[in-house]
Amino acid sequence: MADDIRAFPLSELRKRKSVKWRQFPSDVLPLPVAEMDFPIAEEIKVALRDMIDRSDTGYLGPFPEMFEAFKNFSSACWGWSPDLSQMRIATDVGVGTVEVIRTLINPGDRVVLNSPVYDNMWRWVAEVKAELVDVPLIEKGMEYSLDFDGIERAYKAGAKVHILCSPHNPVGVIFTKSELARIADLAKQYGVIVVSDEIHAALTYPGKTFVPFLSVSDSAREVGICVTSASKAFNLAGLKCAMIITEIEALKDRINSMPISVAFRASLFGAVAATAAFEKSRDWLEGALKTLDENRKLIRALIDSKIPAIGYRIPDFGYLAWLDLSNLGLGEDPTKAILEKGKLAINSGSFYSPRHAQFARLNFGTSAENIEEAFNRILRTL
Ligand SMILES: Cc1ncc(COP(=O)(O)O)c(C=O)c1O
Repeated sequence: MADDIRAFPLSELRKRKSVKWRQFPSDVLPLPVAEMDFPIAEEIKVALRDMIDRSDTGYLGPFPEMFEAFKNFSSACWGWSPDLSQMRIATDVGVGTVEVIRTLINPGDRVVLNSPVYDNMWRWVAEVKAELVDVPLIEKGMEYSLDFDGIERAYKAGAKVHILCSPHNPVGVIFTKSELARIADLAKQYGVIVVSDEIHAALTYPGKTFVPFLSVSDSAREVGICVTSASKAFNLAGLKCAMIITEIEALKDRINSMPISVAFRASLFGAVAATAAFEKSRDWLEGALKTLDENRKLIRALIDSKIPAIGYRIPDFGYLAWLDLSNLGLGEDPTKAILEKGKLAINSGSFYSPRHAQFARLNFGTSAENIEEAFNRILRTL
């Protein structure tokens, strides 16, 4: 049985130097950016301390042990054993996605997203100078699903790349194998490359099933590129190291034409930490997921008992709660009032889609006390 992993008390968290804890004045409770308030896994600390103790603080080169560790982790969690020779290091998931897409398209080509979606994906499309084609998720209340007709239309109209957020931040949905297989078949039919951002996958809750895109079918392996890292599940975002995985033979030379800096600018600490995470920290992850599972249910209970006007669907993975605040009467962007009056920082839904300014994303990778306090602060705003 894994030990529960619990968040640090606020007094400790406020000493952190990460942006989450530095961005707002000390009277604000910050639950925006996606990092957790838990201690990292002991095995990761040991691996990093060992590096520090030996002043092993140089550059990162080839790091096959990270690929091997990920392969074993992926095989154990999802029954997918990626080919080690098809894995490349990237600085982080953002850089990996941008640079891999740069090798695949010309400026002005079309790239598909499914809003509401992780805000930086909008920036990635701008960074590669592509034309963004938004095929919004179909929204029924708080239920979200892919719009296959819309996706086919976008593919048919000449889209070159589809950035799939799988599982999907911020709506908390995991796509099924048959949905992913349908995307793969359409992509193959219309010559689209699917870049599947799977950074949240390891945070899938027991009882839910995450399916890696490249494990879905032969078509998926012919059109798919997975970009992932240990950074969300094991809280290592500051350490900078991710992976690009693809088996598309025809694109090998093009992808190899990525600047070597994509790998070179990743950090040795990131690679060491990711290796310790994938290889030795599954117990920690289980413990963290136990706490997160309590937290996602606590939010349901708090909404039901205190502010039933908030829309919420318990997410299938991770520590991000997507909240519909449109019934609270808090103006154009409720998160502004909640920050100003309630002293709670949460991300505005407008980050994820122009149609969702009445929504918000709350990060519940924290303590039960902080979550209760967050809902008290929303109440106080009303
Ligand atoms: C879907 C998704 N992709 C990528 C990232 C960021 O990854 P990185 O810091 O490795 O660029 C995040 C961070 O929250 C995310 O939610």
